[in-house]
Amino acid sequence: MAKNVLHIISSPRGEASVTRKLGDEIIGKIKAKYPDTVVKERDLAAEVFPHLDELQIGSWFAPDAARTPVQIEAIQVSDQAIREMQEADIYVIGAPFYNFAIPSTLKAYLDHIARPGITFRYNEEGKPEGLLKNKKAYIATASSGVYSEGPFQSFDYVSPYLKFMLGFLGITDISFFRAEGLRIEGVKETAFEKSVQSISIV
Ligand SMILES: Cc1cc2nc3c(=O)[nH]c(=O)nc-3n(C[C@H](O)[C@H](O)[C@H](O)COP(=O)(O)O)c2cc1C
Repeated sequence: MAKNVLHIISSPRGEASVTRKLGDEIIGKIKAKYPDTVVKERDLAAEVFPHLDELQIGSWFAPDAARTPVQIEAIQVSDQAIREMQEADIYVIGAPFYNFAIPSTLKAYLDHIARPGITFRYNEEGKPEGLLKNKKAYIATASSGVYSEGPFQSFDYVSPYLKFMLGFLGITDISFFRAEGLRIEGVKETAFEKSVQSISIV
């Protein structure tokens, strides 16, 4: 079965990036399962999404026919990013720990994806409904510390946030793979290998 994979990279460290390498390993396993897989890369370090400003938010809420030429130009960034998300069946998202959370480049990107009426809406009962349906997300995280267990577990604002935010957009089938403890003696030596071993494609 052919699958469209969108690889979202948020580390600026190029080939040295652990999340990029782990993402590539995940994609290798997806390809082994679905040989006709097509991969598209969205490198958030190479092409940084702008923080939302008044112009962009204004362009979202202006009726189609009423948008000014400047608003039409401004909304392209978000429209194009959402189109890519809609076209993909599977997301592979590289999410390094940056100060206990996701990099701001990834947050800025998600801010362009979360659009009322397009990727989410509130139903008649006021309940949120995500509109990116039937998708699968694999998240590749990397961190100096260990967050899956132990004293730092409650300082993990990466996995709860992504789980909630992607779920809000309709993406509820999510698997996390963690390369963690990359600066801890006795852990770092096998951290990446262990994260690769933990990958399972469903
Ligand atoms: C600006 C910055 C902030 C970081 N913050 C954390 C952190 O809060 N917790 C942690 O365990 N590691 C932290 N790290 C370490 C990175 O998560 C780690 O180096 C990881 O491998 C980065 O992902 P990458 O290799 O894909 O670039 C930080 C690194 C940088 C550069």
